[in-house]
Amino acid sequence: MGIKELIARREGENYELHRGYLNPFFVRVLEIIGYDVVYTRGEGAYLYDRDGNRYLDFLSGYGVFNLGRNHPAVKAALMEVLELDRPNLVQMDCPLLAGILAERLVRVAQRSFPGLDAVFFTNSGTEAVEGALKFARAVTGKPRFLHLEHSFHGLTLGSLSVNGDAYFREGFGELLPATAIPMNDLDALERELKRRDVACFIAEPIQGKGVYVPDDDFLPGAQALCRKYEALFILDEVQTGFGRTGRFFCGEHWGLSPDIVTVAKTLSGGYVPVGAIITRREIHRRVFRGLERAVVHSNTFGMNELAMAAGIAALEVIEEEGLVERAAELGARFMEGLKRLQDKHEMVADVRGKGLMLGIEFGPPRSLKLKAGWKSVESVKRGLFAQLIVMGLMREYRLLTQVSAHGVNIVKFLPPLVVREGDIDYALEALDGVLSEAHRFPGGIWGLAKDLVRGALGT
Ligand SMILES: Cc1ncc(COP(=O)(O)O)c(C=O)c1O
Repeated sequence: MGIKELIARREGENYELHRGYLNPFFVRVLEIIGYDVVYTRGEGAYLYDRDGNRYLDFLSGYGVFNLGRNHPAVKAALMEVLELDRPNLVQMDCPLLAGILAERLVRVAQRSFPGLDAVFFTNSGTEAVEGALKFARAVTGKPRFLHLEHSFHGLTLGSLSVNGDAYFREGFGELLPATAIPMNDLDALERELKRRDVACFIAEPIQGKGVYVPDDDFLPGAQALCRKYEALFILDEVQTGFGRTGRFFCGEHWGLSPDIVTVAKTLSGGYVPVGAIITRREIHRRVFRGLERAVVHSNTFGMNELAMAAGIAALEVIEEEGLVERAAELGARFMEGLKRLQDKHEMVADVRGKGLMLGIEFGPPRSLKLKAGWKSVESVKRGLFAQLIVMGLMREYRLLTQVSAHGVNIVKFLPPLVVREGDIDYALEALDGVLSEAHRFPGGIWGLAKDLVRGALGT
């Protein structure tokens, strides 16, 4: 049976299959928050369900879809590769498309970070981070890693060691030696670096979990301290890269010059998993030190033809459609709108971010009536208010968003960079609508709280 027929026959069984064979608890979570939709098609910034309803996707598959879904140029590149019956994964050869993508990645990376000129391909973001941590140890001969509180770099054991959230770390045993630094605390960073046992300091230029933006002097200061104490400075651009924040790489906002940059997500064009470590030749040479160690770090699928073709096409689309500039312009429009909402609604405590990576943080209300509502959800579990907003946006406006981390009242927006002005305005209207309801207690979206609280209590 062909895939088309298979899909046609079994569409709708999605959640039952996952309940049976994958993660039933995740299925339950989706049901509780009203995200248990059977999507049948994706195009650009939109998803469609079986009844033809359209959803606006401000989640972007956790930042994979800067180009939007099913971009025709990426699709065409992949179809061409399939038609050519390419000699894929020979392994003991040097595949052309990997060479071309590496050349192009170096070209774009150098516009942001002069000096980067060597690439290693991976299958995911976390694998890029794992590799980068290994590179840092190989180069410095030192064991310990520094990272930021609230950081997220993936969930394999190395990346988990530099994760700043106990939720992800708990229950998985002993990790690599690593120390968390509070964002903007250069003294704390220097104290740790002074111990001279640090291989690298790794940071997301804007944190995905919580959309925390560092003060302007922090990352440049951190970079200088790393140089002073001979530790590598690694910038994880897995989420912030490829135009997301209104610059090609987010580190450009501060004129940074990292030793290693990790990328993934959007490089896939939204189709074929791929990641990369971009670094300086001198660092690369200290890992792959000679003929004897030419294959000391490698993987099976890293340079596969489909991923490489997707990467090449994705980079071309970003340039041709001016997506970096688009992110800056539309991001400014979105941010202005969010600020207006902050002035209007008392529970909006903060709005922040850059380009089209934006967050809105909620805080306790002042008025007595609203306090009752806030307490009714927040006393059960911190962060439930933000979840209520996410639920309202979905149920009433078919707008996909997410709570930005565990136990926080922050909703994150990561629209595809191909989003239209009208979509941004619609999202702002939706937020205004849901927030207006949230500022009327009881009633409105507070009605959704019952399901949520029952879910949080596991009843
Ligand atoms: C900054 C950052 N680094 C690394 C990762 C891990 O990437 P992956 O999920 O492809 O392993 C993520 C994923 O969200 C990320 O946001």
